[in-house]
Amino acid sequence: MKIYVTRRIPEKGLDMIREKFGEVDMNPDNRVLLHEELIENVKGADAVLCQLTDKIDADVMDSAGPSCKIFSNYAVGVNNIDFDAANERKIMIGNTPGVLTDATSTLAISLMFSVARRIVEADRFMRGENFEGWDPMLLLGNKVSGQTLGIIGAGRIGEDIAIKMHKGFGMNVLYTDLNGNEFLEDKTGAKKVDMDTLCKESDYISVNVNYYPETHHLINEERLSLMKENAIIVNTARGPVVDEEALVKALQQKWIFGAGLDVFENEPKMKPGLKDLDNVVIVPHIGSATFEARTKMSEMAAQNLIDALEGRLPEFLVNKEVFNVK
Ligand code: DGY
Repeated sequence: MKIYVTRRIPEKGLDMIREKFGEVDMNPDNRVLLHEELIENVKGADAVLCQLTDKIDADVMDSAGPSCKIFSNYAVGVNNIDFDAANERKIMIGNTPGVLTDATSTLAISLMFSVARRIVEADRFMRGENFEGWDPMLLLGNKVSGQTLGIIGAGRIGEDIAIKMHKGFGMNVLYTDLNGNEFLEDKTGAKKVDMDTLCKESDYISVNVNYYPETHHLINEERLSLMKENAIIVNTARGPVVDEEALVKALQQKWIFGAGLDVFENEPKMKPGLKDLDNVVIVPHIGSATFEARTKMSEMAAQNLIDALEGRLPEFLVNKEVFNVK
């Protein structure tokens, strides 16, 4: 049995796999594999535990070959995987929903506060030894309590952010989603609106949609221009949902108050100009980076892989339709 792990993950999940099938074959360097390396390393694998940074396309699947049962993605997002290719080959795709909701929503909220209260700028100011005593006009920011929060994509994470911010800070909630979210409406009095209304009326905007061709540049220059001058936009979903070049322009020209970004259009790169701006807080895709979430993700990804290898359908199977699962 060959089980290939494309990058080190918390030991808990690896131990679960080792207990069942013995030693795993793992990328020894803690770095993203080049596509050619990935193709080479998965050769003949029965199962692959992969990362959102691995492009899992037909070439990778064909290299693993007909013995391969599953690509178990160590992430909830699966936009790195070619589903048509997986479905054609009847390869299962697993993911890790739910266990990272709290971690990711907490990061989105942290970004909102950091931008609103200019925490990173203030920290830099102190480290630069610029503080000369209390100043009535120093580093004024935006209030959070009672403001309007627009959630783009009211799935698990969007819903969690809205509930926390409504309960904790009395925020009014607007949301966009393909479907209505009655639970969210009951809990928070949230109103489903169209995207342009959300952009025009929100003080805080949180991007929480999956990345598909349909959500590419959902936030573009035109939508940024609709936003309020005090608006703060936070993206903890996927970078390409926001047109990053347009965002840089909006931040440079102060169309909006600021942005908090955990994800970038061409990760790990940033668009020119972004890092020079004071009105953006940028962090390196750490939404799920708590010890608890990452450990649970490792257990879940391992369990998906074990189930597939032992002939069961994994609980967190993304391409259910191919396997006739309701
Ligand atoms: C995911 O799971 O999709 C996050 O982006 C990383 O944990």
